[in-house]
Amino acid sequence: MVEIRELSEYIGDSVTVQGWVEQTRTHGKVAFTVVRDGTGLLQGVLVRTQVDDATWSIHGSLTQETLVTLTGEVKEDARAPGGYELSITDLKLIAPAPDYPIQPKEHGVDFLLDHRHLWLRHATQRAGLRVRAEVEQSIHDFLYERGFVRIDTPILTGAIGEHAGTLFETDYFGDRAFLAQTGQLYVEAACPAFRKVYCFGPTFRAEKSKTRRHLTEFWMVEPEVAFADSLENMRLQEDFISYIVARSLDRCGEELKILERDTSALELVKPPFPRISYSEAVEELRAGGSDIVWGQDLGATAEMALMAERELPLFVHDYPKKAKAFYMKENPEDPRTVLCDDLLVPEGYGEIIGGSQREDDLGRLQARIREEGLPEEAYVWYLDLRKYGSFPHSGFGLGIERTVAWITGGHHIRELIPFPRMMNRLYP
Ligand code: 4AD
Ligand code: MG
Repeated sequence: MVEIRELSEYIGDSVTVQGWVEQTRTHGKVAFTVVRDGTGLLQGVLVRTQVDDATWSIHGSLTQETLVTLTGEVKEDARAPGGYELSITDLKLIAPAPDYPIQPKEHGVDFLLDHRHLWLRHATQRAGLRVRAEVEQSIHDFLYERGFVRIDTPILTGAIGEHAGTLFETDYFGDRAFLAQTGQLYVEAACPAFRKVYCFGPTFRAEKSKTRRHLTEFWMVEPEVAFADSLENMRLQEDFISYIVARSLDRCGEELKILERDTSALELVKPPFPRISYSEAVEELRAGGSDIVWGQDLGATAEMALMAERELPLFVHDYPKKAKAFYMKENPEDPRTVLCDDLLVPEGYGEIIGGSQREDDLGRLQARIREEGLPEEAYVWYLDLRKYGSFPHSGFGLGIERTVAWITGGHHIRELIPFPRMMNRLYP
């Protein structure tokens, strides 16, 4: 048995390929079957006069997603899907697929999501998830090459990582536990051990909003760097994003074509990215007719307005303290604000990164925890990091699904995760 992606090494040879039927067609005495084996597509050609009756009649019974083996000679054919053709000498039906639900026609998205376990097999879904896998791999490669150590952080936690509003709570042997909203507090603890660290994993937020950029379970990569300030943090982010985009362009050209992504916008993504402060953003928005007032967080509408005319990703930095999480460092130049940044991307995708320099002053951090009404006893260990050799440090979180949606041009981030979890979806 050979994999379809290796066929270039077998031209002129007789090989056997196993895969699922995507399409069949018959033109008189010639029949075509396109199969997918997970590594590529292959068109098999069956000629009535060259096979026995049994083989010919098997072809007639093939339906979409039937598992078959094809044996025959490999030929190059630029017109065939995948670029090769197999002149079939033997065809075996291995497992039938009667009444496959997803037909080559328009289906509603709810129907497709109900059949997500099958929808994964289809071309656009395969393309999106392959880009996702490339993005994930490029994240690990970039960070590994720069000397980061990967730290796996817990999913069951006792401390609120971001804010109380979107917590999934579960019983933990009579105590309360939360599903992690972030791994950040734990990678901060690993900084004095390894200096540059990151976590990569699923994070959970009980988002009651039904938008095209919110999931209740999403994946995040969170780098954390000792001795980096907010400016260095942004430099790392622009290098990181540019690397990820370049890798996708370089290695996923075919997938982006299947997804009909206009890649010219992505070709522009190179450091440095423009930066504006939150205060400048508010001025710009108000000048454009918005009634936003200083102090309000930038919602989706404000983000879209800021990005409407922009082609490059944009850093918005130094938000009001009140709009952001408790752990961000107070800005010494304007204590109403914190040293943080959101990275917004164009084409309607909005925020893909949230980052900040962390509050490294014990007293200020304690005060912020109290101000936010968070239970101090859950943060004793976190405060220890400010007690024993406190150090300046910064980090950020990049949402995988939003990033992949932007790179692939996907409308809704739910298609860029294999099994999306949303307010109204826990199946399949
Ligand atoms: O801005 P957020 O909330 O930042 C943090 O969690 C920090 N602890 C990160 C850090 O500094 N280590 O989330 C970071 C990113 C967002 O920019 C967004 O891309 C993604 O996570 N994100 C979501 N993606 C999908 N669905 C949701 N409900 C998301 N919430 C955040
Ligand atoms: Mg954010």
